[in-house]
Parts: sequence; structure tokens; C-alpha cells
Amino acid sequence: MAAGDAYLTRRLRPFTTTIFATMSELAAATGSVNLGQGFPDTDGPDELREVAVAAIREGRNQYPPSAGVPELRRAIAAHQQAWYGLDLDPDSEVLVTVGATEAIAATLLALCEPGDEVVMFEPSYDSYAACAAMAGAVPRLVRLHPPDWSFDPDELAAAAAGPRARLLLLNSPHNPTGKVFTPDELDQVAAVCAAHDLLAVTDEVYEHLVFDGSHVPLATLPGMRDRTLTISSGGKTFSFTGWKVGWVCAAPALVAAVRAVKQFLTYTSPAPFQLAIAHGLGYEPPVLRGFAAELAAKRDLLCDGLAALGYDVFRPAATYFATTDIAAVAPGISARDFCLALPERCGVVAIPSSVFYDPADPAAGRNLVRWAFCKRDPVLHEALARLTSWEP
Ligand SMILES: Cc1ncc(COP(=O)(O)O)c(C=O)c1O
Repeated sequence: MAAGDAYLTRRLRPFTTTIFATMSELAAATGSVNLGQGFPDTDGPDELREVAVAAIREGRNQYPPSAGVPELRRAIAAHQQAWYGLDLDPDSEVLVTVGATEAIAATLLALCEPGDEVVMFEPSYDSYAACAAMAGAVPRLVRLHPPDWSFDPDELAAAAAGPRARLLLLNSPHNPTGKVFTPDELDQVAAVCAAHDLLAVTDEVYEHLVFDGSHVPLATLPGMRDRTLTISSGGKTFSFTGWKVGWVCAAPALVAAVRAVKQFLTYTSPAPFQLAIAHGLGYEPPVLRGFAAELAAKRDLLCDGLAALGYDVFRPAATYFATTDIAAVAPGISARDFCLALPERCGVVAIPSSVFYDPADPAAGRNLVRWAFCKRDPVLHEALARLTSWEP
């Protein structure tokens, strides 16, 4: 029994200890280079830090409005218009949350009745299944297949046709695979949402960290604007993952439903960071594209290095993460055992991708490992140098 199981409700027991905590402890205990958790090891622009500091000094320190400070709601609406041509009313169609994490939780709690089904792609970011469980909802998983992480349209259609299917959760750009869903795939997703009258919830936190192709919000597809809740956050875009400023954009009735939950989860989100992210959202496109270009070079550094070491690399089109198949480098060993051995044997931490699959299917993702490359170049070089000492 894991710590906490004696008290934790049955529906949340599968979510007690995360691999991320285990791996971070191992990293600390072994002095490993940590390519596990997805946060950069350098901060974002000084200018944004100064905006937050100035806001604290100027006294923006009491409860801001529950929906978010007007400056940020206006900046989010202006950003959606400038980048994607989406028109939003900052008062009724934008809600600020404590990171995308709260946005996802509040959305599922607001929209799902117990027993409702949530269609989502697998592998998936770990909070989705946990948030579905909090809402008493049930994931209906649609498998993404390497090397391009495509899905079978019939499997998607079957999942969406379930009698209790309520909403579809789409994460593009996608963690852990780094996939950007193609225009064709987005059309298929939109078509099943329309055919089965599903709401769509999109997690777009990596929207500005795209290296190949471009990000297209599902809400911009014909007929999707009014059935889609678009979730994003400033953490990844601006390299301030600890600020936890996120948001939901949707039609007024949907935002009102999520706001009803948000007010009793956290009521509001920290004001100084909201003001800093509002400032960042006003950056001209070349600035944000510059952040992505820097990260693309890191992607190449890590992916080329892993390939040279014999790993089968699925080079990501976006995000912080690369996935490898380890079968050639560590024959016969599961990704989980490989990742548990790696800190001790090489001084490197990575995440077994099996944790992003349904635990009921132990074979899923058995050979896949996720590596974060949002680190300084010397750190990536050091990790690659250490990995040369791996022997099967
Ligand atoms: C796909 C995805 N969604 C949401 C989050 C969390 O975002 P936030 O820090 O804004 O809560 C992460 C963080 O890793 C993520 O990878």
C-alpha cells in the first residue's frame, strides 16, 4: 500500500506516488543530471521578472478579481486575435487560472457528471486521468502510434460514439511525444466532436514551442469555436514554470461553468505574476519565435547525441521532450527498469514513458523513454557524455 492509501478515496488511489517524485529523489541522491521533469534550468526574460517585482512594490498584493486581472484578460484576448484570428470578449470569454493544471481540473469538474467519458489520446499528460478521476469521469483512450504518433480514425470514432462520451481532451503540441497534430488529424477530431456533440477541451501550453510546422488551435476550425475550451499558460512560453499563470478561453456559458468551480478551488491567481505574463503576451511574434528557435537547437543537440549513442529517436516537432526507443541500447530491459538503473549507473535521470499509458496495460510504452532538453547546453553535453558509460 502506498503512503496515503489508508485515507485516500478509492478513485484517487492510483495517483498517489508519481514517477517524477521518485526520479527527482534519485537524481538528488545520485547527483544525476536531471532530464526528467519538464522545467528549464534558466529563467525567462529579466524584463518580465521586473514587471512582477514592480507589481509587488506598487501594492498589487491583495486578492485580484476571481476571473483574473483585467490587464491579463485583455492581453490573452489580444494574443488569441493576433496569433489565431480568434475574437474573444475579455470579460465573459477568458478566465485566468493557477496554471493550466487548475484550468484542466476545474474544466473537468465543471463539465463532467460521474460516469461521463472523456475521450483522450494515449500516451497522455498525467494530470488528465487524475482530474477525470476527481470528477468521477472515465477516460476513453485512443492510442497514438510511433514513429509519427498517428491514431486510427476508427478507434477515435468508436471512442467518441460511447453513450456517456461527454468531451474530448486534445493536447497539441503533445506531451510526452512532442507531436503537433496535423491539419487532417484536427479535421478528424473536429468531425467526431460535431458528429457526437462533444465538447472539446484543448491543452495548448506548448503553443509557442513549435519547431516544425505550426500550431493551429482546434477552436479555429469550422464549427469548433463555441464547443471548445482552449487552455494554455505562460509557464512554458516564457520559461517561468513556477509562476503558474494559466487560462481558459471559451464561449461565455462554458467559461461561467469553469469559473464556478475555480472560485472554490483557488478563488483567484497571484496578481503580480498575472501582470508579468500580460506583459509577455504583448511581445512581437519574432521574440516568441526566438524562444522556440533556441529550444529547437537544444532538441537537435540532444536528439543527435542520443542517436549517435544508438538510441532510436523520435525527433519531436515541439515541446520540451524527446522520446527514444531503448530496445537497441538496453535489450530486454523495460524502460522503467532502465530509468531506475540509469541514475546509479550513469548519473542521468529520464522518465519511462510507460507512466503516460494506462497502468492496466503494462506492455504499453514498455521500451519508450522521455528526455527533457529544456536545459543549458553544457548540461545536455554532460548528460550525453555520461550516457556513453551505459552497458547493456
Ligand atoms: C501538457 C501539459 N499540460 C499542462 C501542464 C501544466 O501547466 P501549468 O504549469 O501551467 O499548470 C504541463 C506541464 O508540464 C504539460 O506538459
